[in-house]
Amino acid sequence: AHELNNYLAITANNAELLVINIDRDKMDKVQFNAKAITENVHKIKRFVDNLMDFSRPESEFISYDIRHLIDDLLFSLRVQPRFKRTHFSIDLDSKAPNLEMDVGQIQQVLMNLLNNAADAVEERIIKSEDDTAKFKRKLSITTTYNEEKEKLTIIIADNGIGMTKDTLSKIFSLHFTTKKGGHGLGLANCRKIVEQHHGELLCESEYEQGTTFTIILPRFQPANQKKD
Ligand SMILES: Nc1ncnc2c1ncn2[C@@H]1O[C@H](COP(=O)(O)OP(=O)(O)OP(=O)(O)O)[C@@H](O)[C@H]1O
Ligand SMILES: [Mg+2]
Repeated sequence: AHELNNYLAITANNAELLVINIDRDKMDKVQFNAKAITENVHKIKRFVDNLMDFSRPESEFISYDIRHLIDDLLFSLRVQPRFKRTHFSIDLDSKAPNLEMDVGQIQQVLMNLLNNAADAVEERIIKSEDDTAKFKRKLSITTTYNEEKEKLTIIIADNGIGMTKDTLSKIFSLHFTTKKGGHGLGLANCRKIVEQHHGELLCESEYEQGTTFTIILPRFQPANQKKD
């Protein structure tokens, strides 16, 4: 894809300059190059992950602890520049059992939702005219297990720009995007993955207030269901 080439060109360019600037002892430039490389590699990763997931039709289910998955994800997210100033509130149900899931795919779903949340908060900050220094970027992840139904609910909420009713009605369509560098792949992919897990993906949003995504996942996958 065309944008992939752009990201790679910028990365290669900065890597070359990085070496030169280290030789010349220009530390401020070194820092700039390193930052550009990191940012572009993250962009490439986001894009490639979604493309790869799209071309992978099947899920491979294993029994896995969602808390483990979310903890690992947060560990790598918190150091990324786009999440650095975000206040996370995490509340994970300790009574939830392992779920049968494709770990890579569920991680992809959560990554897409969290990246969208970060974009939405950024957009709100850029658009708002009030004191942006005081605005607190909030992102919450909550899981609740329903023992009777044998289902886990994951709620991801942000206090970003939110959506108009019109936008909300289109978000799961392939290639729909309101972003400059957007591909409109993320949510279409999320929905596909969640449906492959026999789950549900829902969204509520209020313009200029924030957005809440709800993922409902069953404990067992039909083909895998074991009787004891
Ligand atoms: N948390 C959110 N807050 C506000 N708007 C959102 C949120 N998540 C999604 N959207 C809206 O839904 C659209 C589609 O999201 P989707 O993730 O599918 O594509 P994208 O983020 O634009 O591009 P990409 O393919 O890089 O993910 C976004 O462009 C945005 O308008
Ligand atoms: Mg997205």
